[in-house]
Amino acid sequence: MAASVLKQALSLKNSQFFGQAVVNQPVSSTTSGRLPACVSIRASGYEEELVKTAKTVASKGRGILAMDESNATCGKRLASIGLENTEANRQAYRQLLVTTPGLGEYISGAILFEETLYQSTLDGKKFVDVLISQNIVPGIKVDKGLVPLSGSNNESWCQGLDGLASRSAAYYKQGARFAKWRTVVSIPNGPSELAVTEAAWGLARYAAISQENGLVPIVEPEILLDGEHSIERTFEVAQKVWAKVFYFLAENKVLFEGILLKPSMVTPGAESGEKATPEKVAEYTLKLLKRRVPPAVPGIMFLSGGQSEVEATLNLNAMNQSPNPWHVSFSYARALQNSVLKLWGGQPEKVEAAQKALLTRAKLNSLAQLGQYSAEGEDAEAKEGLFVKGYSY
Ligand code: 13P
Repeated sequence: MAASVLKQALSLKNSQFFGQAVVNQPVSSTTSGRLPACVSIRASGYEEELVKTAKTVASKGRGILAMDESNATCGKRLASIGLENTEANRQAYRQLLVTTPGLGEYISGAILFEETLYQSTLDGKKFVDVLISQNIVPGIKVDKGLVPLSGSNNESWCQGLDGLASRSAAYYKQGARFAKWRTVVSIPNGPSELAVTEAAWGLARYAAISQENGLVPIVEPEILLDGEHSIERTFEVAQKVWAKVFYFLAENKVLFEGILLKPSMVTPGAESGEKATPEKVAEYTLKLLKRRVPPAVPGIMFLSGGQSEVEATLNLNAMNQSPNPWHVSFSYARALQNSVLKLWGGQPEKVEAAQKALLTRAKLNSLAQLGQYSAEGEDAEAKEGLFVKGYSY
């Protein structure tokens, strides 16, 4: 066995968590040696590492901080607190998030936008190193956003497959170990057969390419909250979407033990006038997942999709009242960041208070992952809905 291969094998074996493996050795050295191919060669020698990464991200009592807003979306967030969309302001906000003391107790992974992956703190520490030092695995949004899908009913498709292999290799080199690709399915606009097939195929191609380059793919077909439909209709559409996603994932020989899912919860449409209890959301969502997701998949990390902070936490808690075949946790952006951003308001003297707010939200979601959360004591702001019609990421 070549020395570099042995070095990687030992570092993987000796570390309980993937995050520690990265801390213990320079990232570049993990790219030099590859493990010998196992039975399934689809993931190109990264199988063992992919499985470990996925398990670390899906570790007990922890979930993902999604902070991968594109520059345009981040600009909208900054505008909501009266700040200009400059690189300096985006850096300042992201520095606040990644340097929150103690964050790694509740957060296992952070999804970054490309700009953030290459940014550093003002005193010169790479964001990725700051995350790794807290045992938080850095991840990267790799899709290139949504564009109109011609031939459909005003639906969209997700771009980003061109050049994805070389971009993924570069992200791995920079320290990313998982990836995210968000595509959407709209219920009011159909969804058409074409849009669902396109969404599922794109996710599967992305997942295969990510695994070949050492990144655990987060598979995210978001079924948008927009619409007046019932919870039953969401359930019906979600079954169809996930059936296709898994069909194409298998066709593309994706290693299920080395992926993570990021579904939307099964709820009534945001404009239906109906409000489902956390128990009802949990019942429908778990029924869907049990019918469609093999137990080989290590983790299901929900998006918040415009739910209020409290609602997203309550729903997650309801899903963890009895054992599940997979780790059921969170990968929230809006439902983790909303109060934090408002509290900060761009003021340096508020950084500490905002970090405390982030830690609190992360801790409450950690409790929900363990099925031990209660909404007692939550303030009114955390209960405010965050739904925005036609939201883009
Ligand atoms: P929200 O939790 O705001 O829906 O974000 C989802 C997402 O895909 C972020 O990565």
